[in-house]
Order: sequence, then structure tokens, then C-alpha cells
Amino acid sequence: MSVDFLQPTTDLSVFGAVHLGYLVVESRRMTEWHRFGADAIGLHVDELDGDTLRFRLDDHACRFLVQRGPAEDLMAIGWQVDDHATFDRIIARVAERGVPIKEGTVQEAALRGVERLWRFAGPKGIVQEIFTTPLTTAEPLRMISSGFVTGESGMGHVAITSRDPLGIHRYYDTLFDSRLSDYIDENISGLTLKIRFLRVNERHHSIAVANVHGLKVDPIRTRAQHVNIEAASLEDMLGAYERVRALGFTMAWSVGQHTNDRELSFYCVTPSGFELEVGWNPIVFTPELENAWQVATHQGISVWGHQPVDPGILDKLGQIRGAALNARRPEIAVPGLSTPAGAAS
Ligand SMILES: [Fe+2]
Repeated sequence: MSVDFLQPTTDLSVFGAVHLGYLVVESRRMTEWHRFGADAIGLHVDELDGDTLRFRLDDHACRFLVQRGPAEDLMAIGWQVDDHATFDRIIARVAERGVPIKEGTVQEAALRGVERLWRFAGPKGIVQEIFTTPLTTAEPLRMISSGFVTGESGMGHVAITSRDPLGIHRYYDTLFDSRLSDYIDENISGLTLKIRFLRVNERHHSIAVANVHGLKVDPIRTRAQHVNIEAASLEDMLGAYERVRALGFTMAWSVGQHTNDRELSFYCVTPSGFELEVGWNPIVFTPELENAWQVATHQGISVWGHQPVDPGILDKLGQIRGAALNARRPEIAVPGLSTPAGAAS
């Protein structure tokens, strides 16, 4: 599934050969997740047993794995790597930095719908897993939505809040040769949020990292602030919006358009508390755009829309102020992979 211009070349870069493959969530709210994913968002659901749900977006057997457990959080990100040379290169980088790597068990691989996987520590305790071969299925998708954009772009993106955004930036530089797409400065509740957007393939960003500028605080309980998937059509995205409202799930931000990747989207709250952004039609990094791209800083997240919907969302944001005064909890980091990019292999 590689595009020639993005293939690893003589510079040994793995940029373009890595794609967001699956997400692992832990929750006690299995019934709500089933209803949220299938009936509201419009995903294909497979209930493996009372403790395990999987959602499909495409022919991959698993894009979201929801396992019963106490965390109510995103536990792991699975990255699909195009070929074994790239895989070996990434593993070598992790090993050289002294970060332990472990192969997943046969059962873990089966649950995630991959042939084999390896895992190592990631920022904020989100385990990073890499694999080369997803298990695909010919079983037709039974879902309300007409489809989702995945493929070369991966299944979407993950947004993380951090007290150490540069550390996370360096982590993905070291690991995947990520490229900085741009920054957004946003004012919320009187504080400035700075968000940096990192791409590892043609998708404008696979990882976004936000921090409260000038303050070493992290206002978000969950490891991920939101995860994003891309609807195939505007009708799919708007249909999901209406169903989230109609079924009584919490809507965070109304439909709007982002300043940087121009994606139209809305944000709702998953049963585990982090948000799901359903988007449509972001820009794609063609070879021409990749060559011509200039890093910019945008003022504000949205060109229009993205207004707070359900009461309580603004209260939650107001807690950022409170968080600034709270005692610090140490943030889980991976120093071995977060050193300056110049030191990367
Ligand atoms: Fe997003």
C-alpha cells in the first residue's frame, strides 16, 4: 500500500511507511460502547464475547478493540508498517535507545486482527504497538455509514494533551521520522493552548499534541484527548452527528471546519470519556503539497463552527484554570526515545 514518493529511501527515513492501524480501549461500559459505535457513529460491530467488542471501518478485521477493564481510556495505538525493512529499522531505533520491546502473544495478535505485533512504551503510558500484516476479512460491512477513509492515510489521528509536547514531538521524530505540519494557537477559558500537528504519511496529522502554553499542566484525565476517524461522505458525518444527538450521547463541539487541515468535523464524548472526532475531507499531502509545504501557525482551531453543544463542556474547560493550581502528577514519558532528533539513528 505504499506510494513511491513516500517509500523509505537512501536517507533511511521511514516517513510514509507508517499508518495508524488500530486503537485499543479499556472500558467497563461495553453496552454503551456497542450502542455508541454501531448505532450512533455507524461503525460495523463484532461482539466477540461479553468482554470484547471490535469495530470495523473497512476490510481490516479490527480498527477499534474495546476490552472490559477499569481504565476507561485509550490503552494502545497500533501502527501498521509497510514492509519488513521499515519494521526492522523502527525496532532497531527502539532497541538502540534501551527501550524494552516485547512481542505480543498469539491471542493478543488475534484480538487486534493482526498476524503478529511488537510493543513498547509510549508517551503518557499509551503503549505503542507495531505490525506489518493486518488480517482482512471478506465479510461485508454491516454498518449505517457508507464508509471511512483509511488506506494510505491510516484510520485517523490521535490527539494528546501533554506537559512535555516537545518530548512527544521528539519521540515520534525518533521513531517514525514524523514531520511537523503546523501549529495552532487557541484561546480557551483565557489560557493559550498550543497544538502541534505531526504527520507520518499523506494524512495531515496522525498525532496532535496540545499543551497549555507557559503552564506545566495537563487538564485532561484520559491519556488521549480525542481520536479521529474520517467519514467517506459529508452525509455520513452529518448523519453520525444527528444520531449522536438523537441517542442522547454527549456532544462536545458542533460541526465546524479546522483552520489547518480544512477538515469538517464534530466532536462527541465516547463512553470512556475521551472524545471522538468524526471528520470529512481533510487535505491530503500529495507529492506536490509535500514539496511545497511551509510550516505555519494558525490562530484558532476553527474557520467556523465547533461551538460547545452540551452543557458542561465549557465547565470542563474551565477546569483548566483549576488544574493550573493543582499539584503536579508526574507524566509518563519515554526518555530514551524523546531525546533530540539529531541524536536519532
Ligand atoms: Fe482532531
